Amino acid sequence: MRLLVVGSGGREHALCGALRRENPDADIYCAPGNPGTAELATNLSIAADDLDRLADAADMHGIDLTVVGPEVPLARGLADRLRAEGRAVFGPSAAAAQLEASKAFAKEVMAAAGIPTASSRTFHELGPALEYVARHPEPLVVKASGLAAGKGAVVCESRSDAATTVRAMLGGGTFGDAGRIVVIESFLRGEEISVLAITDGREVELLPVSQDHKRLLEGDAGPNTGGMGAYSPVSIAAPELLERASREVLLPALGEMRRRGTPFTGVLYAGLMVEDEGTPWVVEFNCRLGDPETQVVLPLVSGGLTRSLEAVARGEPPTPLELLPGAASVTTVLASRGYPDVPDRGAAIVLPDHVPEGVTIFHAGTARGADGVLRVNGGRVLNVTAVASGFAEAQRLSREAAEAIDYEGKLYRRDIGWREAARLAGASR
Ligand code: AMP
Ligand code: GLY
Repeated sequence: MRLLVVGSGGREHALCGALRRENPDADIYCAPGNPGTAELATNLSIAADDLDRLADAADMHGIDLTVVGPEVPLARGLADRLRAEGRAVFGPSAAAAQLEASKAFAKEVMAAAGIPTASSRTFHELGPALEYVARHPEPLVVKASGLAAGKGAVVCESRSDAATTVRAMLGGGTFGDAGRIVVIESFLRGEEISVLAITDGREVELLPVSQDHKRLLEGDAGPNTGGMGAYSPVSIAAPELLERASREVLLPALGEMRRRGTPFTGVLYAGLMVEDEGTPWVVEFNCRLGDPETQVVLPLVSGGLTRSLEAVARGEPPTPLELLPGAASVTTVLASRGYPDVPDRGAAIVLPDHVPEGVTIFHAGTARGADGVLRVNGGRVLNVTAVASGFAEAQRLSREAAEAIDYEGKLYRRDIGWREAARLAGASR
């Protein structure tokens, strides 16, 4: 079998790892990949959004299945392009990827399908947006509608902060084109979980539920990032809640996409805010596997991933995944000073000679220079995943392995999973 993974982050390293485990003899390519994927696959030096060259590479290497990691190539039509050339590809069409690429569109779909989400309005012009802000209760959330690498949502404590943010997005061009349309919505309280569903557009097969940590600093302070760490499973994601998430969120969204003639296939990622009574409120949809969610959940999958992705790529329903029974997983993201704005690059990375059993170091923003030295080459540099038989052990292993990695400007949170730790401490009192 010949597989192609598109992307270069920790998510793609984890994908290559899971595909390699299941397919020891396959030819796996990763475009462009990173020094971590190079150990599992053949890296192709083609940017993840270079559709022409990716299509040529799929042709040249006779790729049987392409798995697309990031949202940008999906939103630009990579899956459509490969499908038009008769290739099996796991990922949505450009039209279906609008569920992530346009928050305004996602809100329309949710309204049409009666999906629980924060009340909102969409604006193209400054004047009406500022009038809306002036009447909106605090706190409120201002979002750039387009793709902004997870950084386009600003939670504003006050109307005046919100007005400043709206001016920056609509008036000043922060976030470029992504901010030409803004969505202003009510603030949802509760705890957020990431529900990742493999889907053929009708049926869903859920990956283990995880919780991301979007804020840069410990105690959930500082700016939003692409994600600073995650853990899985999450004890609040009980079977009844997931059943409601399927029935009230995922299946209606898929139904509405079919009704519009743009069925969604691939991974539908629902970021859900869960309140005490358990209603799953949608914070966002993504059209792909999460990063770092993938790094925390795929190590819990013991089999069946390739089969399920292949089935969906062929237009068939997803097949069930096999999971490690009773295992818990924690991923700590190691970032570089300056992230999420302008991260420092170039520092030499020193990895430990040995990592404890259950620990995997996924590469994200790393590069190996001509001198062979591994160096920092992006905002999120490495992801340390630990799998153990219980949450506390996985948390300790991930944190200790993160501590043992060394580079100038290393930035990471030592409190990944703090909500789960507090719940477990409460339960044992
Ligand atoms: P988004 O880009 O829509 O995923 O938002 C990024 C992060 O901002 C989310 O993961 C939440 O933590 C926070 N956020 C977004 N929208 C809301 C909301 N309506 N209420 C509370 N927090 C939100
Ligand atoms: N970790 C959040 C995301 O992948 O969008």
